[in-house]
Amino acid sequence: MSHPPDELVRRLAAGLRAAELYAPQHQLVQRSVQALAGACTAFLADAPAVVVGFIGDDVVVNDTRLGKGSASLTGLVRGLRDREIEKITVHRGVTAAEIQAFLAELAAKRARTPLAERLAARDVRRIVIGKLSIEEVEQDQVGIEAAKRVYNTAVQSAESLWEQAKAGDKPDPNTARRIIDSLANIVTQDRTSLMALTALKKYDNYTFTHMVNVAALSMAQARGLNLEGPLLREFGFAALMHDIGKVNTPKEVLNKPGKLNEEEFRIMKQHVIDGAHILRRTPEMPALAPIVAFEHHLKQDLSGYPENIGHRKLNLCTMIVSIADVFDALRSNRPYREGLATVRIKTIMHEKDSPAFNPVLLRRFVNLMGLFPVGTIVRLNSEEVGVVTAEHPEDPFRPQVKVLYDERGQPLESPILANTWERDWRGEFQRAVVESVDPDSMELDPLTAL
Ligand SMILES: [Fe+2]
Ligand SMILES: [Fe+2]
Repeated sequence: MSHPPDELVRRLAAGLRAAELYAPQHQLVQRSVQALAGACTAFLADAPAVVVGFIGDDVVVNDTRLGKGSASLTGLVRGLRDREIEKITVHRGVTAAEIQAFLAELAAKRARTPLAERLAARDVRRIVIGKLSIEEVEQDQVGIEAAKRVYNTAVQSAESLWEQAKAGDKPDPNTARRIIDSLANIVTQDRTSLMALTALKKYDNYTFTHMVNVAALSMAQARGLNLEGPLLREFGFAALMHDIGKVNTPKEVLNKPGKLNEEEFRIMKQHVIDGAHILRRTPEMPALAPIVAFEHHLKQDLSGYPENIGHRKLNLCTMIVSIADVFDALRSNRPYREGLATVRIKTIMHEKDSPAFNPVLLRRFVNLMGLFPVGTIVRLNSEEVGVVTAEHPEDPFRPQVKVLYDERGQPLESPILANTWERDWRGEFQRAVVESVDPDSMELDPLTAL
């Protein structure tokens, strides 16, 4: 069976027209979504992706230039040009739901947020819009490599914010803004890469990676609650600066292995007060920042510290930041202990009757993170190492893993695809994920390993 490119484009044009004219539930829309899905699937049977490009009045599918077409094609080309879309890439595995959402958003002419953002918000991952002319740049801005660059820059800037505060100066709000803007982009466009980055375990510059991680993890949560724009950024700011009061905490206390004694704990607790002071004297910082700095060690029942603050309702941002804060602190390597496996973190965070976190936000966070999101490098109980290729819808502890290294750390010639939810004839699991592994330590790029 052949799958003429014209058919795909005709279906696309018809789908867009239907979506412009009728409500999403309308029969005609539904039918054209199905038709377009069919055309895509047929195309994607022998290629991982299909690219539809629009150059001038021409339409190009992969490398095939379509002849000057019918009026409907001309309409499509013009419509997309108006929307400044030069390229639509559809990836294998695209679902009817994604196509439907894509058409609906494409048809929504009065929407204020950019199309790419709306698509991300609706979880349309396998249809990507772009421009032909800036293809290279664009490729550069997504993916783990780009995320890594953004992340490393953010960590460096966080360090300079820290140094400014430490020297008694105001932390430069512009530096903070740049960090937040760059993170906001990844959080909306490429969450998977960002999550993979924050999962890297590094302790040499824990202070600064912690700032950036908490900001990223908090913004991702806020995005999940549909916050966007200036408020999303304010949350990012507050999260980034939550521990800034620690510039006054002596190193011996900050990095002390083991439990703090009473006096040391008293010193440690001071960082929430100092943080609020530092941020309050920086008027360009959002008002939320000192509040979150002040509140972030308070639990739902107002235990924790600062003590005796009377009755108050914790700010939503505080509750989000404290989840991100504890999660990152437990996950990261500290001088005195190894980073905990994600599983243990989940156990701790879920301890029954723990008043530490807002239960609804916590549940959302755990779902958001997935325990072992796709792309995570994991160690199995068999000592093999692999990359998570799919999540198990019901049991986040048991993903599908592509095993890349055997139990002695030797790379496998042909990787094994292991479904860790499968049991052997005795009813026992053959493999289980023990922990996630820093891809850097394996010199492994999780995304190319996928
Ligand atoms: Fe803190
Ligand atoms: Fe913290």
